[in-house]
Amino acid sequence: MKVMAIILAAGQGKRMKSKLYKVLHPVCGKPMVGHVLQTVKEANCERTVVVVGHGAEAVQAYVGEGAEFILQEQQLGTGHAVRQAEGLLAKEAGTTVILYGDTPLVTADTIKSLLELHTSKGAAATVLTAVVPNPQGLGRMIRDQSGQVQRIVEQKDCTPEQAAITEINTGMYCFDNIKLFEALKQVKNDNAQGEYYLTDVIEILNQAGEKVEAFCAPDYAEGVGVNDRVGLAEAEQLMRTRIVRRHQINGVTIIDPAATYIEADVTIGADTVIYPGTMLRGSTSVGTDCVIGPNTELADTIIGDEVEVKHSVLTSASVGNKSAVGPFAYLRPGAKVGARCKVGDFVELKNAELGDGTKVSHLSYVGDAKVGRDVNIGCGAITVNYDGYNKGLTEIGDEAFIGSNVNLIAPVKVGDSAYVVAGSTITHDVPAGDLAIARERQVNKAGYAEKIRKRAKAKKENTSKQS
Ligand code: UD1
Ligand code: CA
Repeated sequence: MKVMAIILAAGQGKRMKSKLYKVLHPVCGKPMVGHVLQTVKEANCERTVVVVGHGAEAVQAYVGEGAEFILQEQQLGTGHAVRQAEGLLAKEAGTTVILYGDTPLVTADTIKSLLELHTSKGAAATVLTAVVPNPQGLGRMIRDQSGQVQRIVEQKDCTPEQAAITEINTGMYCFDNIKLFEALKQVKNDNAQGEYYLTDVIEILNQAGEKVEAFCAPDYAEGVGVNDRVGLAEAEQLMRTRIVRRHQINGVTIIDPAATYIEADVTIGADTVIYPGTMLRGSTSVGTDCVIGPNTELADTIIGDEVEVKHSVLTSASVGNKSAVGPFAYLRPGAKVGARCKVGDFVELKNAELGDGTKVSHLSYVGDAKVGRDVNIGCGAITVNYDGYNKGLTEIGDEAFIGSNVNLIAPVKVGDSAYVVAGSTITHDVPAGDLAIARERQVNKAGYAEKIRKRAKAKKENTSKQS
């Protein structure tokens, strides 16, 4: 049986009070509609149509190739929204799942269960319902004495008795596709809101003698839609807890889940330990047996196995197996650290490659550089990569030694096994195996210390007399 999905995402989301269209607001680093698309993909939907209206172009730009689009120019209700897909889908035999772009917490497991029940019962429609503590504002499920679903009544059309019902319509359903589009033709807008309600399809199918079923979500939170920033933070919290739990189940130790922020697409290997204050963002992947944090942010960064990263910020960087980073290191885009490296305190790397076994232990800036393996870069050594106009490349060969407080004025090359003594300012290439020294020769003046102290003291006394 062919399974299709329609995602309603035309609403403006006025209550968000935002320039950004509602379904593009991220939850755990991913736009809400992205979560819904992921869910329909995991539930094996073959064809996905997104109904767009407000912010159509932005939504379409984000979703890209992932779906087909249909424009709902005026938002005349959920029934009207689905009907926009008539031209694309009405003739397709199969099952259609309907979801909202602003309801990101629904899981693929729940959609699969909904589809299973729908298919096994041979239903024309199956509603995903939930029992909620506060049904205010939501459509209520009306069942007969035998428990069969009869219809859905919207809040604004409820009698007081109906308003007391706590089983609500999440707004997600699956339908026999042909029957859905047939029934939609009969939906009218003669209700309290003057809208074409998708929910009316339930009653229409019932009256036509079709079978209508309901599947109650195991956790009502799955059906919670985001309408404002309060709801956005609530969705974030729920999603965050869910993501952390998934990693825990996969063998990751998370010391304090409440103080750990892992975005939706991050992957982490088993036996890695995450300390509090850690944010793992975007497409970050962390290998096995790592120790990450405390207080570390990794964005779009690839970390190998057995890596330690403490109190550091890494963006679009990579770190090889068994390396250690931090505390207080800053790896900017293009930092590529090899295996068994050390990047220590107050080290900044940008667009710089470090070969295996290389150490930059303290207080360095290495930018626009290609550094070989087993290199030692001493404390305070820096690449001088910018003259105010141009960026220059620094190349350092394997097993080279760069002494403390060296300035490497780029573009410049230091050959394999070369030795640059501390305090040098290197302006010319250093051939492989050579020693480079580029600093003033030291002069000692015998006994001169006492003389200079006396002179300084006299100067001070003189100035304090004058004032
Ligand atoms: C709808 C249901 C209600 C259910 C609730 C769950 C109807 C008539 N009512 O309520 O039973 O309890 O969802 O959240 O269906 N949208 C469009 N185009 C439109 C109208 C809506 O794309 O013309 C989209 C919105 O962007 C939103 C979703 O559909 O993502 C739901 O719309 P919303 O107005 O929030 O739903 P309600 O009518 O309040
Ligand atoms: Ca809503």
